[in-house]
Amino acid sequence: MSFFVVENMTVSFSGLKALNGVDLSIEKNQIFGLIGPNGAGKSTLLNCLSRIYTPQCGKVTLEGADVLAYPFHRIVELGICRTFQNLELFSNATVTENIILGCVWRYKCNLMSELLALSSATRKMNAARAEAEDILVELGLSPYADKRVSDLSYGIQKTVELARALAGRPRLLLLDEPAAGLNPEESIRLGGTIRHLRDKKNITVLLVEHDMPLVMSICDHIVVLDHGEKLCDGSPAVVRNDPRVVEAYLGTETADA
Ligand SMILES: Nc1ncnc2c1ncn2[C@@H]1O[C@H](COP(=O)(O)OP(=O)(O)O)[C@@H](O)[C@H]1O
Ligand SMILES: [Mg+2]
Repeated sequence: MSFFVVENMTVSFSGLKALNGVDLSIEKNQIFGLIGPNGAGKSTLLNCLSRIYTPQCGKVTLEGADVLAYPFHRIVELGICRTFQNLELFSNATVTENIILGCVWRYKCNLMSELLALSSATRKMNAARAEAEDILVELGLSPYADKRVSDLSYGIQKTVELARALAGRPRLLLLDEPAAGLNPEESIRLGGTIRHLRDKKNITVLLVEHDMPLVMSICDHIVVLDHGEKLCDGSPAVVRNDPRVVEAYLGTETADA
């Protein structure tokens, strides 16, 4: 059985089918791309997988575990962490504090304030800080550790969100348009980071993205969604050359490139 399996995922919003019987099968350590035009249902799928939405029907398993049986606040225990299409950070908190919030669940704290109270150098606090520091170093965020998130550039904020997701120690990392708003250089760096996480930390990645150079260069496998249905499912080469995909999404320019 595959590492992560989605079967017959169906979601409607007041009659509109955002997802209509979508199946996905992701192998361990894959970087799996999910692409498609705006409104195709990509974010809706990620919202179901991270348990923000409950689909009308469908089955999701992670190494056999029933993902839909977990409520949103416990999904991290299963090893599913995510970033959002629109940043979801605590913008008045520092970079380190945001990352600490990503690992707080593992310390079984009743009060987040216990972790964030900088004066109380508790054992948990020190452990959480040490974890956050490792992630800061790994993602090149150390210079920003004590900066307020709202004072940072958009590109750095996107990296902070990735850092917070990593603090949850994902087995499966869901990324919703992580390259949106990045310049080409930042996007190439992001590609290197995603590969590093897969190669060195064995994190399986489900990447929703419009940045085709990034998708085509790092994904092992790609699914194209269109109007809530799977249009194509294959290697980057297969997807790039599928006439239906070119027509619905890529356009002739990308196909020629
Ligand atoms: N919470 C919601 N309420 C109503 N409609 C929604 C909601 N979320 C998404 N949709 C609709 O579902 C469809 C798919 O949206 P979305 O998953 O955001 O697409 P994508 O991420 O591929 O651009 C769109 O028609 C969108 O308007
Ligand atoms: Mg979206």
